[in-house]
Amino acid sequence: MGAPTNRPHDDAAPDATFDTELPMRGVPQPSRAEALALPGLRISRHPVVASKLTALRDATTSPAQFYALTRELGALLAYEAPADLETEPCAIQTPLESMGGRRLAGGGGVAPILRAGLWLAEGVRQALPEAQVWHLGLRRDERTLRPIHYYNQLARASNLHVCYVVDPMLATGGSAIDALDLLTAQGVRQLRYLALIAAPYGLLALRRAYPETPIYVAAVDDRLDERGYICPGLGDAGDRQFNTL
Ligand code: PRP
Ligand code: URA
Repeated sequence: MGAPTNRPHDDAAPDATFDTELPMRGVPQPSRAEALALPGLRISRHPVVASKLTALRDATTSPAQFYALTRELGALLAYEAPADLETEPCAIQTPLESMGGRRLAGGGGVAPILRAGLWLAEGVRQALPEAQVWHLGLRRDERTLRPIHYYNQLARASNLHVCYVVDPMLATGGSAIDALDLLTAQGVRQLRYLALIAAPYGLLALRRAYPETPIYVAAVDDRLDERGYICPGLGDAGDRQFNTL
């Protein structure tokens, strides 16, 4: 996808590899306004989400705080995201009398994109404790920005009527689209995508590939830098969460 320069690799220059392999260099990017106009995109307006996201972005936030915040944000977004989960009637007894209530019918799933989606998914599970968890191992190649698929643990038979694909960062959209392709091939029809921070480039790519899939995010940022990082963003979500910077 990138437009690498033709400059020969020069070992004498400290940032030679970097200069010749900046994958987003020269790649046109849509504006934030274009992204905000996309159909089916919902952006959280909850002040608690905004405040926790600001703490997450802060470079001084420690890995321990980072993963605690990620998990809290996962739970908050799961409550806020389009709630089309099925419920079924049930009879209960309150301390005073019997009544008919409703409980979640099951058939909900969450698919974290590893690694960074793990703690976000744990937060979603706080809201949906019965959810099946389908792990998807995708790692972005730093040079091409294409996702590399290294692992998945999907259920053999799909009885999911809705599945949330979760990942803190939607950058070029490659990982999100691969994840949705995998789950679609597995027979899951009602897919939802949930992220913390999205770049306009990735949002447009995801919307083009999956025009109907609801997208729920905490924030839409300005752009990708030349290495494909979201700006202003929060840096590398996986490394900050797992203390591997
Ligand atoms: C990050 C992030 C997304 C992906 C986004 O993961 O968590 O999965 O990059 O980029 P894209 O939209 O351009 O595909 P990364 O590949 O760094 O792996 P990690 O979670 O193991 O750190
Ligand atoms: N992955 C991250 O962790 N951060 C970004 O900004 C982009 C991709």
